[in-house]
This record gives sequence, C-alpha cells and structure tokens, in this order.
Amino acid sequence: MKKLIVGNWKLNLDHLEAIQLLQKINYSLPDGIETSIDIVIAPSHTSLRSIQTVIDADNLSIQLSAQDVSAFDNGAFTGEVSSYQLKKLNVTWCIIGHSERRQNFDETDEIINKKLSLLLNSEIKPIICIGETQDQRNAGKQVDVCLKQVQEIFKNIRKDRLHDVAIAYEPVWAIGTGVNADPEDTKEVVKEVIDYLDSKSFDIDKFRFLYGGSISPDNTEMYINDDNFSGLLVGGNSIVPDKFVEILLKSK
Ligand code: PGA
Repeated sequence: MKKLIVGNWKLNLDHLEAIQLLQKINYSLPDGIETSIDIVIAPSHTSLRSIQTVIDADNLSIQLSAQDVSAFDNGAFTGEVSSYQLKKLNVTWCIIGHSERRQNFDETDEIINKKLSLLLNSEIKPIICIGETQDQRNAGKQVDVCLKQVQEIFKNIRKDRLHDVAIAYEPVWAIGTGVNADPEDTKEVVKEVIDYLDSKSFDIDKFRFLYGGSISPDNTEMYINDDNFSGLLVGGNSIVPDKFVEILLKSK
C-alpha cells in the first residue's frame, strides 16, 4: 500500500510564511516522488486558500489537508468552518480528533463522529487521530481506550462512503515530547483496531494506519519499515523544511 505522510503544521505560520514553506519543501523533492508516497500538508485554515492556489497553479504533487472541521454543516455557528467550505477550496483531507483538540477544546468522540460523517458527505478524506494518555498507558488501558474511541467515532458511519481513510495512532505522551513510542508497543492497538473494524464488516483495504508522535528523520525508517503502519503523521518536524524533506525521502 502506498505510504501516506502527513505534515500537521498546527497553529504556526501566516499565509505568506506557509507559501514559503510549501515552496521550500517542493523544491527539495525529486520528480515523481508522488508515485511512491502520498504527501499531505495541513496548514491553518487561513492559509488553505493560498496554498491551494499554489498547488493548483504549479501542479504540485502535494495534497492539501485541513486541521479540523466543524461538526455542523451551516447556520448560526460563529467561527466555524464547514466541510462544504473546505471542499470548495479543493481540500482533499481533514484531520479530526487530534488529542490537542480533545484536551484543549473538550472534543469528544461523539463530536468527532459528527465531523467524520460530514467529511464523508463532502467527499473529504478523513485522518482520524486516536491515542491514549500516559496515565492510561501506565494503567495498561491503551487498547481499551483506543478501541472505544474507534467504536464511538465509527458509530452509524455508512461503509459505502469510506474510500480512503487514515487512522493515526498517536499516543498522547509521544506528541511533541521527543519520546516516540517503541513500534513493538504500538502493535496491539493497531491489531485490535483492525480486528474490530473487520468484525464490523468495514473494508480494511480502504484504511491506512499512520503512526504519530515525535517523528524525526532519525526514527522514520523504524515505522516505515514496520508492517503495522502505512504512513506517518508528523507535527513539529513538518515545519522544519530540511527535516520534513528528509522524512519524506526516507519514506519513499
Ligand atoms: P509531533 O506531533 O510530531 O510534534 O510529536 C505529532 C502530531 O501532533 O500530530
């Protein structure tokens, strides 16, 4: 399965800086890299339009993702951005359920489930984040926690709407800490999630499992060569052009 590498730029860069970063990354990529990996970047909402214009005008082999979407489709929801609006900007992917949203904005699995449903209605591909906290891992609850997240998020989701889905396993304690999870310690979660989806008759071939949490050029190959994963969700190092490019080159 083709590898999927996603750069989550988080709350960084204005739209001009975002274009510069995109161009720096693009200049360093070899021709044809898109035949071996899907490269996705997720800038802030304010940069989506500018980035999309550059991608389209220069026919870049980089795909566009949003970092979040509203759980509502339209109406009196000040400050929200809908899946319909993202689709109109030619946004291909959208991250939902990132632990930073769960922790800082009280996002629940029920809300993420609504977001997933709206993204699928708009034919935007979801990148769904799951993962346990340090306390939950210490208590040996990582499988239970992640399975419950998946069960809630996929509740009543129409299987025929799922064509290309990414589930990013991001242990919360590995995000932004410089401490990546040992691939051995990620296996049980991924296996249980796959078994669950399979048992509910989801077509597992339509899913790609990503690892996220302190990915750097030094640990990229460890996950890329691991059968468990078909890609990476990169945070901090995705806005450092040399490092992100090195991660991409090691992933192809
Ligand atoms: P990190 O972030 O690579 O900085 O740990 C990963 C993420 O938040 O998706």
